[in-house]
Amino acid sequence: MTKINHIGIIVDGNGRWAKEKGKSRSEGHKAGAEALEKIILYINKESIANYLSLYVFSTENFSRSPEEVNYLMELFMKWFKKCKEKYKNANIKVLFSSQKEFIKSEIVKAIDELEEATKDNTGLVVNFCLSYGGRQEIVDATKKIATAVLENKLNINDINEELFKKYLYNDLPDVDFLIRTSGENRVSNFMLWQISYAEMYFPKVYFPDFTPKCLEEAIEEYEKRDRRFGNIK
Ligand code: IPE
Ligand code: IPE
Ligand code: MG
Repeated sequence: MTKINHIGIIVDGNGRWAKEKGKSRSEGHKAGAEALEKIILYINKESIANYLSLYVFSTENFSRSPEEVNYLMELFMKWFKKCKEKYKNANIKVLFSSQKEFIKSEIVKAIDELEEATKDNTGLVVNFCLSYGGRQEIVDATKKIATAVLENKLNINDINEELFKKYLYNDLPDVDFLIRTSGENRVSNFMLWQISYAEMYFPKVYFPDFTPKCLEEAIEEYEKRDRRFGNIK
């Protein structure tokens, strides 16, 4: 298997998975989080990627019921506290792409602690997009750049794609392979800058049923793709 530099996953289908099983949406999210933990550890153990970006909660998801939002936030918080030592020892470096002003301080604390605990790790980089929107990330970068120009720290002529990228929430390479589970064929505001040339794959499976074997099938599909980047071979 060739190592993929950056895999992005839009974790989707928890609710429909639960509904089909006569369970609550919360149970679906719990099962989704368990499946995701297995995928992270598998990608790390098998050295499948250098970077893994996970869309787990969009800014648009705040419009769901308070019960669902609160359940998800509690679930994330417990998970981040629990995995801190494990990820530190597994050499996983965790980053967040988040609009922190929308999330409760206790969750921000768990996020900050997980980033801090793993900051010197040199292995797989896991970037959680939580309270995240791709357009807003670009707007926020633009504001930071405009401020730097106004403060005479940056010359307008020095603004280019390479520079712009450095002002995004995290300085990450382009996404090479984007997987969205549950059969939805859309990107829903995920890493709009970084997915410009991503290969996309939309398996039908709901995320709680997305196993390491499903990931291997996805990668087999990726390996068949012909990435041309506008060029002719
Ligand atoms: C993905 O599952 C998890 C989040 C968006 C937080 P959904 O909750 O979107 O599940 P469906 O799309 O309703 O099945
Ligand atoms: C996108 O999924 C956000 C995450 C997976 C975190 P949604 O389920 O919220 O997206 P839509 O509403 O189907 O586009
Ligand atoms: Mg969904």
